[in-house]
Amino acid sequence: MNLNEQFEQFRQSPTVAMGDRISALKASGKKIIGLQQGDPDFSTPQAVIDVACKALQEGLTHYGPSRGRPDLLNAIASKLMRDEGISYDPASEIIVTHGGIHAYFSAMQSILNPGDEVLIPDPTWATHVNLAMMLRAEVTRVPAPAEAGFIPSFDSWARAVSPKTRAIIVNYPSNPTGIVPSREYLQQLQEFAKAHDLWVITDEVYDSLYFEEKPTSLASFEGAKERTLIIQSLSKTYAMTGWRVGFLAAPKRVISNAVKAGQNSITCVAPFIQKASAFALTDPGVQQETAKMREAYTRRRALVMKLSAELESDKVRVTPPQGAFYCFLDLRALKMNDVEMCERILEEKSVGLVPGSAFGDLGEGFIRMSIAASDEEVEMGFRRIVEWAEEQGVQ
Ligand SMILES: Cc1ncc(COP(=O)(O)O)c(C=O)c1O
Repeated sequence: MNLNEQFEQFRQSPTVAMGDRISALKASGKKIIGLQQGDPDFSTPQAVIDVACKALQEGLTHYGPSRGRPDLLNAIASKLMRDEGISYDPASEIIVTHGGIHAYFSAMQSILNPGDEVLIPDPTWATHVNLAMMLRAEVTRVPAPAEAGFIPSFDSWARAVSPKTRAIIVNYPSNPTGIVPSREYLQQLQEFAKAHDLWVITDEVYDSLYFEEKPTSLASFEGAKERTLIIQSLSKTYAMTGWRVGFLAAPKRVISNAVKAGQNSITCVAPFIQKASAFALTDPGVQQETAKMREAYTRRRALVMKLSAELESDKVRVTPPQGAFYCFLDLRALKMNDVEMCERILEEKSVGLVPGSAFGDLGEGFIRMSIAASDEEVEMGFRRIVEWAEEQGVQ
């Protein structure tokens, strides 16, 4: 009997694969510094947990509306106005999803037909590619090399686009590079999309985690909203990865398809979780707590940059990330396969990392180090990576 062969082409999520290996090593008694994860090291603010528990006790235990509860939809619309200055109709232009990943799934399901082409920068989060393949879209990677600051040139976009192209998919601040392009670049990207009549899927799950200027949403440019699909999530900003809640904000006809897809797949996001999420998005005390989390990421990023300057390794180069919570370390000087590097650093220095090639061919020779770990772990982990790199002879 046949299986869906699309799955054979998937690379297993490197973060998950590394997480599994680390769990096995920990179970055998080994102490590991886990810098592979994309999960905040903070707990969900207690007040949010309290709202969820109370909602359960009060009987919010039944189905809810497929598009989302009005309180959460209103909170999302207010957040988009507050943070991006964009007006979305909570009654027709937003759907609540099972995290950012499902917002992305809903977006892609709603707009693509089999054989449609999508343009995705290389490197980027592997799910962008895997999910497009799952929906039988054709994926064309657009080179975003380190030398170009991990941002595709407009020549590259123009070379990649074809009559079959339906959408471009971008993610800023970027996982894994932490890059945020300038406002001018994003505006030009919207103009490019308009000229070729393309959808713009913009994964903005790290929108609140920035170290320099606040990133501009791709939907915020004049006339852009009608072709732009925003992927968002409470996972990273509110340390709510396990709650599985996010949203898609998009033109009405896209949301209408996403609602049909939701009705026939997930039914709805658990109503007690939605109630707590509405509280998380609007409560001033919770915003203060998330601001503290951002301060911690900012401090750790500074710590890595300070160590990098002190250690002066020409084998481990760091470009300061502008957002998200990763440092994409350049170890190309070692001329070694990055999967092997991560395996050896785990075996020899007990530090868990993700190989850059998991994000695309142009990630080869890089490793992704998360700073969603304590200051001590980030410092010790980074020192050990440099120590390991310095021990290697260049081939
Ligand atoms: C770029 C990007 N988009 C989306 C997600 C998924 O977020 P969520 O946990 O809300 O599904 C992640 C998680 O790592 C991510 O890095």
